[in-house]
Parts: sequence; C-alpha cells; structure tokens
Amino acid sequence: MTMKVTMRIRRFDPEKDAKPYWAEYTLEAVDPTDRVLDLLHQVRGRFDGSLAFRRSCAHGVCGSDAMRINGVNRLACKVLVNTIVKGDEGKIQVEPLLGLPVIKDLVVDMEPFFENYRSVMPYFVNDEPPPARERIQTPEQRTRFDDPTKCILCAACTTSCPSFWANGTYVGPAAIVQAHRFIFDSRDRAARDRLAVLSQENGVWRCRTIFNCTTACPRDIKVTQVIAEVKNAISRGRAD
Ligand code: SF4
Ligand code: F3S
Ligand code: FES
Repeated sequence: MTMKVTMRIRRFDPEKDAKPYWAEYTLEAVDPTDRVLDLLHQVRGRFDGSLAFRRSCAHGVCGSDAMRINGVNRLACKVLVNTIVKGDEGKIQVEPLLGLPVIKDLVVDMEPFFENYRSVMPYFVNDEPPPARERIQTPEQRTRFDDPTKCILCAACTTSCPSFWANGTYVGPAAIVQAHRFIFDSRDRAARDRLAVLSQENGVWRCRTIFNCTTACPRDIKVTQVIAEVKNAISRGRAD
C-alpha cells in the first residue's frame, strides 16, 4: 500500500534567492517503508534536479545527511516515513541544520564545526617509544571511552544545542565527545592539553545540561553524560 506525502523543504540558492523560502512537493505514491532520504531523491528526480542535500552511505554510518526533520535533528537515511507520518496526506518538513551557514538548500558549511573538532586534538598522542608488540589495555580501560567511539561526526548534537545557537564559538558537544574518546584512553598522554582547551571560556562550561544533544544523537551516545565526565575531570584536575 502506498501513501500520499507532502514534503515541505526549506530552499535557498544564493545565486538566485534573496532569502530562504519554503517549497512544497506532493508525492503521490510513497512506500511507508521509504526513508526520508528516499523522498528527497524523489523530489530531486521528479520535481527539481537542483535540490541540494548531502548523502553518502545511506545506511546511518557516514553522518553526512543530518538535517532537521519535523523540527528534530535526524539522519534522513535512518528515518522511516511511517514513523513520522500516520495515514494519508501527511506532511514532512525538512530544513538544514541550525547554527551553521547554509550553502544551498539542505547543505550547510561544516567548516566551523570541524574547526571546533580540530581544536581538541582528536588524535592519539604518545611520544614514548612503542613496545615490541602493541600498547596493552585492559577491557575495563577500553570500556572507559567506549561510548564516544560510536560518534560519526554528523553534527546533529552540536546543531541542536541552544548554547551553540546562542554562541557559535562554543566548542559544542561533538567536539567534547571526540575529546573524551582520547582523554580517557589509558594509552594517550595529552589529556591535560585537551582538558586545558575545554576549560577555556568556549569549552565545557558553556554546556547548560539542556540534553538536546543526547536526544538528537543517532548513535545513542549519552552525550550529556560524556560532557559531565569531562567537566568532572577538569574540576578534579585529572582524567582518571
Ligand atoms: Fe553525531 Fe552523536 Fe557524534 Fe554528535 S555525538 S556528532 S550526534 S554521532
Ligand atoms: Fe547543549 Fe547538550 Fe549541554 S544540548 S547545553 S551540549 S547537554
Ligand atoms: Fe550516511 Fe545517512 S547517508 S549516515
């Protein structure tokens, strides 16, 4: 059985539009098991080939199609139409992530996001001579930073955070998640440097525990809890 769905999409082409506007497209034969990403492809294929959006894997892995769907940040490839539209003639509203500049339609400029990401040294640091085989770690030590390893850098958390909307210089939850992954890794030696970055004016203290980030995360990372652990480490002056 198919259904009828109206897609309401926030459009903006800097080469011809003075400002963003809403456009509506009626899709007559939508399969309820389609994802929102499938409908965006339908709109582009049947109505307007200039509709711009990012996607790559289409299976919730690459993080490139985060967008605001019915007012909530989601991955378009992970949202089944039948979970957000009930019955015929439902509406789906899609708009770009908030808090980042729009390049075109649903495509935002991710550079400010990745600038924050780079600021927390999101890579392994250890200048000690490597052992003959690998750097040993116990299962308990590995578990300590397990949750953040699931992050796919989709930006759904950071762009749902009111503190980030209010002050774009806040490093944001995604960067803190990435920092946590290395701060609590027993093999890494740069925890103090990362904690110093995150204790600055635009670091973790701009988090007001609003929890939007945790709700938005498509990987079910307990983002607010991760941030709280980094705050605690800064307060204690160490990361153990
Ligand atoms: Fe995306 Fe979750 Fe990583 Fe934030 S923490 S960037 S929402 S995967
Ligand atoms: Fe923002 Fe999440 Fe903190 S929504 S205020 S980073 S708990
Ligand atoms: Fe890769 Fe959706 S297209 S996560």
